[in-house]
Amino acid sequence: MDATLRDTGLDRRSRAYRDAVSIIGEEGVRQTFAPIDEPSGLPNAAYWSHEWLALENSRIFARSWVFAASDGDLDGEGAMKPLEIGGTPIVLVRGADGIVRAFHNVCRHRGTQLVAEPCRHKAITCPYHAWSYRLDGLLSARHHFHGAGEIERFSGEGSGLDLLPVRCESWNGCHFVNVSGGARKLSEWLRPMLKRTGAFDFSVIRWIGRRDYTIASNWKLVLENYMEGYHVFAAHPRLIAHAPMNVRWSGEWLGHVFYNDYVARELTPGRGTALPHFPGLSDEDARRGMWFACFPTFAVQVFADQFVVLASYPVAPDETREELHFFVAGEAAAHEDRFAAARDELLAMWHDLNLEDVELLERLQKGRKSVAFEGSIMSPVWEGPAHQLSQQVLRAIVEE
Ligand code: FES
Ligand SMILES: [Fe+2]
Repeated sequence: MDATLRDTGLDRRSRAYRDAVSIIGEEGVRQTFAPIDEPSGLPNAAYWSHEWLALENSRIFARSWVFAASDGDLDGEGAMKPLEIGGTPIVLVRGADGIVRAFHNVCRHRGTQLVAEPCRHKAITCPYHAWSYRLDGLLSARHHFHGAGEIERFSGEGSGLDLLPVRCESWNGCHFVNVSGGARKLSEWLRPMLKRTGAFDFSVIRWIGRRDYTIASNWKLVLENYMEGYHVFAAHPRLIAHAPMNVRWSGEWLGHVFYNDYVARELTPGRGTALPHFPGLSDEDARRGMWFACFPTFAVQVFADQFVVLASYPVAPDETREELHFFVAGEAAAHEDRFAAARDELLAMWHDLNLEDVELLERLQKGRKSVAFEGSIMSPVWEGPAHQLSQQVLRAIVEE
């Protein structure tokens, strides 16, 4: 065995390793772990292959915590949000008790998808034969199952036909799902990020809005772009006006959490001038911009007056659905009229910024079809963490 493969520490006898190699080859593993000054990163197949995405779904997304909804998506009793995580249909539901729960979004009768769109109802009723489930997932009634006009009612557990729960935990108005049920505690998963961002009291964040995007690009390219600051020179001149490139660095991985920050010279519109700040920030922290990503896809940007979630969901190898959720610091910032214009400005600023990336990401995806491209030549100054994302992905696929 050559040294590169030996040094990866991957269990080469595992089934998942063999599955990965069947798509990208040993050569692909070697390229993934090649040093940054050589052509490196996952090979093109990992950006185009449906088999590879299936592997990512089962080995990464189904086994990890995934941001699934914010409080704004689940506003009030009976609010429901369906989505696919790890290739599996899930629905989040806010119960009569205010608690957010997640279920497999599939009817126990014949397997119909129960909830197709975000909505709000008193119960979850299957559109096919009208089996009805309570908001806590218990089957409550079956109509005509035993004959025309007969209604079989259930009270409490015991039917054996309740909706199947999915592990769900909440943190400051963000609701996360772990399909496999086997991930570590949510608080542990968030801990490296919270340690680094300790000056900011995230208990005050309040949701103010959401924007959705469909990007014709692989989810890993979206995330790599999120992490690397190199493209800011060419793609985001307005960001340089806020914080010149000489105050920036590449960021770093803290285990499974990517972290980066800078301290701007002054606050600028859309970032700290018009909305209330997190309480108790020092002058330096008020000028700090931070962004991080808890692997795989819970990406967040923080400024003195905002907490913005960029959650991405692979739809296909060449398609990613992205949800931006905007939170501000405190009730007044979220609800008072005097801040309405500043809230609008914040959403507009992010929308413009995101659009600056979308076309580039789509062209990046197209380019990765080229047989002439074999590995990225990344900047050691700016792209270290993005270079390591490929390794994080491969390790997460293979690890038990
Ligand atoms: S499939 Fe749901 S009631 Fe028949
Ligand atoms: Fe960008």
